[in-house]
Amino acid sequence: MFITFEGGEGTGKSTQALILAEILKKHDVDVVLTREPGGSPGAEIIRNLLVTGSVDRWSTMSEVLLMYAARADHWQNTIKKALDRGAWVLCDRFADSTVAYQGYGRGVSREFLQLLYQHIVGDVEPDVTFIFDLDVNKGIKRATARMEGNVVVEGRFEAMDIEFHKRIRLGFLEIAKENSSRCVVLQVDVHPNAIHRQILEILQEKGVLPWNNLLA
Ligand SMILES: Nc1ncnc2c1ncn2[C@@H]1O[C@H](COP(=O)(O)OP(=O)(O)O)[C@@H](O)[C@H]1O
Ligand SMILES: [Mg+2]
Repeated sequence: MFITFEGGEGTGKSTQALILAEILKKHDVDVVLTREPGGSPGAEIIRNLLVTGSVDRWSTMSEVLLMYAARADHWQNTIKKALDRGAWVLCDRFADSTVAYQGYGRGVSREFLQLLYQHIVGDVEPDVTFIFDLDVNKGIKRATARMEGNVVVEGRFEAMDIEFHKRIRLGFLEIAKENSSRCVVLQVDVHPNAIHRQILEILQEKGVLPWNNLLA
């Protein structure tokens, strides 16, 4: 089972991926919780190049290729290996983020992004993608509060202008529409427990929850 968590900054993706991973582990599921950019030793090095430093550090195309350089390594060394042995992979951001940020956000062609996906990931797609939808100002506020006091500030994308983040939000909603069998949009301006409950309900509806009773 391959589940991805997508959406803008501070929407609660990492929080929910962790809660879901914990409950699955409690039920003895083999779970790999991972993230992008990053998720393998090589890709984490590339992550650092992408998420720190000045907003204009990279050209759009350099950013796309760094994202895919990281994804190629992460796919080969983490995700594919885990899926092949039958583990559940919970991935905090994946290829939809590249379509939203560099495609809808920066104007890179969808065909080019699709070509990279085909060559690097191939025919595999996530089984379920949760798209976290939230007012962008609220999300940025949450993300900024989270970063306060951190030694290394991973704030390069958070620092981009609000119009960019609005395009990304609309981009994710378009992606959800175009991939309606895979994607579920979650309205996340509610308590984390309520979001978690919704995620479990959706997985149960899809018949993939590895235990019978939602509350078990
Ligand atoms: N449903 C929620 N309501 C309010 N705050 C939340 C919620 N979910 C997460 N947070 C908080 O918002 C911040 C960003 O959450 P996080 O899970 O890191 O978002 P993301 O991974 O999408 O950037 C964290 O400080 C987190 O504790
Ligand atoms: Mg996160």
